[in-house]
Amino acid sequence: MAQSKSSQAWLKEHHDDVYVLQARRDGYRSRAVYKLIEIHQKDQVFKPGQFVLDLGAAPGGWCEYAAQFVSAGGRLIAVDLLPVEPIAGAEIIQGDFTEQVVLEHIMSLVGGQTLDLVLSDMAPNLSGMDSVDQPKAMYLAELAVDLALDKLDRNGVFVTKLFQGAGFDAYISTLRQRFQTVKMRKPDASRPRSREVYAVCRGLK
Ligand SMILES: C[S@@+](CC[C@H](N)C(=O)[O-])C[C@H]1O[C@@H](n2cnc3c(N)ncnc32)[C@H](O)[C@@H]1O
Repeated sequence: MAQSKSSQAWLKEHHDDVYVLQARRDGYRSRAVYKLIEIHQKDQVFKPGQFVLDLGAAPGGWCEYAAQFVSAGGRLIAVDLLPVEPIAGAEIIQGDFTEQVVLEHIMSLVGGQTLDLVLSDMAPNLSGMDSVDQPKAMYLAELAVDLALDKLDRNGVFVTKLFQGAGFDAYISTLRQRFQTVKMRKPDASRPRSREVYAVCRGLK
């Protein structure tokens, strides 16, 4: 099948991307892992033995990285619409996080425990139309923070992907009201032209 110019350009960019090459060398499933690695280097979000929830986990770069930290007595639940190939130590749920049945599945696995770390790298399929994409992205971020506020330990950490645009400022101000510290990060591996940033939030108020 003939490829459009934009998909050819995307493939070329992907091929030449230093993080794609590095992920291949390091044996990670996605270049996205380097965003989390940089966040961890700056903010020390992982500790051995944590109970971690990874939302928007496919293909599994963040999950593979997180699995190293939970091996010592911790737990890791990973959720995505798409299948995630098995990762040692991860309990994988395939389903739509916006659906009640999936939320209930997560809650049943968490049980009476609290989470130490909630990661959300969820992003909707982007149409390129901001008026369509931005509300979808904000909705995922809102559901993620609701779960974090409900299930995080008092000293827990919430890391979420956000796109700058409508609803962004109000969301950050809610984070600042509910968490003791909120830091904004734009990792090197996050493409400069993308409005994607990450909020790293620590400690419930
Ligand atoms: C940027 S990718 C995540 C990359 C991942 N962190 C990694 O390191 O490989 C975003 C993911 O969010 C997932 N996603 C989007 N909407 C979702 C939803 N409603 N429920 C669950 N996952 C969703 C997508 O399927 C996609 O795999």
